[in-house]
Formats: sequence, C-alpha cells, structure tokens
Amino acid sequence: MSALFSELKVKDVTFRNRIGVSPMCQYSSKDGMANDWHLVHLGSRAVGGAGLIIAEATAITEDGRITPGCAGLWNDSQIEPLKRNNAFIREHGAVTAIQIGHAGRKGSSATPWGGGAHLQDDEGGWPIMGPTDQAFDQDGTRLMKAPRQMTLKDIEDIKAAFVACAKRALEADYQLLEIHGAHGYLLHSFFSPLVNTRDDAYGGSQENRARMMLETVEAVRAVWPENLPLAVRLSAADWIEGGLTVDDNIDMSKWLIERGVDFVDCSGGGATPAARSSVGERTANQVGLAERIRQETGVKTMAVGAITQAKQAEDIIASGKADIALMARESLRNPYWPIDAAKELGISTKPLMPTQNGFFVGT
Ligand SMILES: Cc1cc2nc3c(=O)[nH]c(=O)nc-3n(C[C@H](O)[C@H](O)[C@H](O)COP(=O)(O)O)c2cc1C
Repeated sequence: MSALFSELKVKDVTFRNRIGVSPMCQYSSKDGMANDWHLVHLGSRAVGGAGLIIAEATAITEDGRITPGCAGLWNDSQIEPLKRNNAFIREHGAVTAIQIGHAGRKGSSATPWGGGAHLQDDEGGWPIMGPTDQAFDQDGTRLMKAPRQMTLKDIEDIKAAFVACAKRALEADYQLLEIHGAHGYLLHSFFSPLVNTRDDAYGGSQENRARMMLETVEAVRAVWPENLPLAVRLSAADWIEGGLTVDDNIDMSKWLIERGVDFVDCSGGGATPAARSSVGERTANQVGLAERIRQETGVKTMAVGAITQAKQAEDIIASGKADIALMARESLRNPYWPIDAAKELGISTKPLMPTQNGFFVGT
C-alpha cells in the first residue's frame, strides 16, 4: 500500500493520488487569456498522472498581474479557454484548481527571462499599490517602483475583485480554489511586518495585519460552494529576523480554518529582497512548515519545495507531514513523474494512463 497513491476525498472532490502540480506562472498570456500553451502545459501533467493540477497565479484585476504575460480572470471573456483546459484535465482524471491573487507592490514587472525588473508605465507597466508606499527593492536596483499605499476603498475593491474572480473560477469548472497569500504579493505583504507599515485597522498588531487576508478569505468562502475545497497558500515563514515565523502562520491557519479553509499550502519567503526567495533549492526545508502547521492545527496541508524523489514524496504523506505533495520544477522536468513514481513504488501504472498509452505500456 502506498500513501502517495491513496485516494483523498475532501468535500465532494476526490483526488486519485496525493501528487499535485504546484502553481507555476507561464508568462505566456496576452491580456490575461489562456491559450494552447496552457492547455498543453497543464493537460500533459494530467496525462502524466498527477492527482491535482493548480493553474498558475491568476490575476483578479488587470493591474494585479505580476507581468504583462501573466494569466488573468478579471473578465468573463477569460472564462472559456480555462473551461476548455479544465474539460481536458478532468477527462484525464486530475482535479482542476486555480490560484487567484494580486501581485501588490511586486506587480508591473518584466518576465523572469526579460530580467524581472519593474516596468515603468511608459515601458508597458502600470501603477501598482500595496499596504505601504515603500518599493519592494529599497536599493533601487530591480523592483524599485513605488506603490501607492492602499486606501480603505482600495481594500474593499480588492476584496470584491477576489469574490468576482472566484465566481468566474466556478464557471470555468475549477474544483478547488486557492487564494495566493504568499511570496510577497498583496495578501502576504499585508500580513508580513517586514512590509506592512500601516497604522490603521489593517496594520500594526498581528491581528490587524492578518485582517486583509482573513476578510478576503471570508468573502470568497461565502461564494465558493460549501461542497468544494478552498485552499490558501501562505509564506509559512519569512525566514528572516523581524519577519513572520511559523508560529505566526500557525495562528493564521487557525483563523483560516474558522473561516472554512480546507487546505493550507505551505510555501515560504518572497516578502523582501533580503528575505529568502520562494523558488529554488533553498525551499527544501519548507516541508517542515507543512508538518508543523498540520500537527498543531489539524488543517490539511500541501507541502512544496524540492520534492523530487518518489520515496521522499511517499514519506511526506505516510508520516503525516502533509496531505498532498506539490511539485513545481521537477514537474517541468518530467510531466510523467507520477507514472515513474508509481513504477518505482510498485504501483500499477495502467490506471494512471490514458488508454492510448496504458494499453501499450501500462503495467
Ligand atoms: C516557473 C515557476 C513559476 C512559478 N509560479 C508560481 C505561481 O504562479 N504561484 C506560486 O504560488 N508559486 C509559483 N512558483 C513557486 C512554485 O509553485 C513552488 O512553490 C517552488 O518552485 C518550490 O517548489 P519546487 O522545488 O518543486 O520547484 C513558481 C515556480 C516556478 C519554477
């Protein structure tokens, strides 16, 4: 018996196994629209046997994108291509999910392969906003564009945009919704004391800094059907003196549970240039964050960060560190990773494959 290949039922959604594809920006949209690239990128990973496919950080508003190439779901015309992707993913046995978010003060950036620096308004960028008026990069070398400090009206507008986006995600046939509360983007930047300098009800104490995340989640949960799971990705540690600790995020997880959240997806980093990056080899010890949050709150967790080996993923699930093991970079290397892992763990691969493949090479 493999824990990694055991089914998981949460609300009315059944995951065929515990392997998930972590959300990954593709920087390949025009005007936020999904296209053939997204169908092939996500679809091939469903054919590859994953139980859960989380579509990339998808902007709730046009100016909430990280880069001009980022995905969006801020208008109804963006629903149809996502629906097409989802029909294919579901036909091949994976659960469809989307991460919705707002980039906050890290928005209006060039793509990573375009250098990743802030784009000025006359370079194809746009005005940005956040909890503070301080630029992400105080040294002025890369992400140095100054955001506008959000007013209370901005805060209300953003919550309403999250709600409208969640409704569109439902129309697009997503089965699991993930709110992006990590990596220095808007919701995380409100919670992190490294960024939030406000002195109103949304800044200062831990409770005040948590308010934006919690009010957003509460509003989204009210429109996201009760029978479908809701997840929040947290930067479960800022990994730097003066930043959020896992204990802060244990508190946050308890508050999220009270608001009907089913999964906490435990990532880390990204709040400031000095804080640790949210992508790369140093994400390895993030699995420990998922373990602590699961053990101390009872919430289901997703673990992510340098998960590459079948036995490693099996151990994460079997030992109760997390309920789902997410993979990003390894899934880019090998979309068929779940099938290879099944083979290594002595699990039948045929049920994971479409007939076209399984008939000939399934075991
Ligand atoms: C190309 C790429 C794009 C990413 N985009 C997102 C994203 O849209 N949302 C997010 O929360 N994390 C994003 N991440 C972070 C991953 O989801 C993951 O948390 C991180 O890469 C660590 O996992 P890994 O070691 O398996 O790569 C991205 C990572 C990569 C490599």
